[in-house]
Amino acid sequence: MHEFRHCTDAADLAGAAAAHLAARIRNCLDGREVCRIALPGGRTPGRCLALLAGDSLPWERLHWYLGDERCYPPGHAGRNDVMLEAELWSRIDTPAANRHPIPAELGPEAAAGRYSSEIVAAGQLDIVLLGMGEDGHTASLFPGNPALDDSRPVVPVHRAPKPPAERVSLGLSTLQAATERIVLVSGADKRVALQRVQAGEALPIARIGPLLWFVDDDAAGRS
Ligand code: 6PG
Repeated sequence: MHEFRHCTDAADLAGAAAAHLAARIRNCLDGREVCRIALPGGRTPGRCLALLAGDSLPWERLHWYLGDERCYPPGHAGRNDVMLEAELWSRIDTPAANRHPIPAELGPEAAAGRYSSEIVAAGQLDIVLLGMGEDGHTASLFPGNPALDDSRPVVPVHRAPKPPAERVSLGLSTLQAATERIVLVSGADKRVALQRVQAGEALPIARIGPLLWFVDDDAAGRS
């Protein structure tokens, strides 16, 4: 069900995950024209994505989607696509047409409707890179929130406990349908959520199916 790769610290995790992502992207492109990858927000993925940007991949054959976006205006420092631009897209030669940001500035419902069309047109995502919150949320699917059980491909999120309250997220069905799912978990603040997943609790991250976990010692309680 789950596979765990243990890393010593955040730097080790970023390097191991970047190397794995590059290898899986190359594998995806072996015999396929395009590889479609969904990326997370938050603090964890930046270092990994900056390392990935240093690899020599056929960037023009990679399409980038977002696992979720916060309903802030374009360019707002809290937006996930602003982080992705800084850590990855600004460092690689990727055509604008290959970057598929979520128009979260339209508000949850309108943005989810627009992005649903993009995700349906994209078809099955090849790789989904995810984070996990301290409560076991992933993307913007939070425990007990109605968005978690919304069957649409992209879902509006209201009353998220992690600010901002209004977000847009890939739906559970889209995450479950992805060919590969990788989650990055770093830091002692994730320890309890990881223990709850390993104890079999159906937290949102655990509901998306088999995962490859990159976990550092702090998160695993080995430090
Ligand atoms: C977001 C993220 C979210 C994130 C987790 C972990 O918009 O906040 O997409 O799902 O991955 O909250 O965040 P950290 O990596 O900052 O711990």
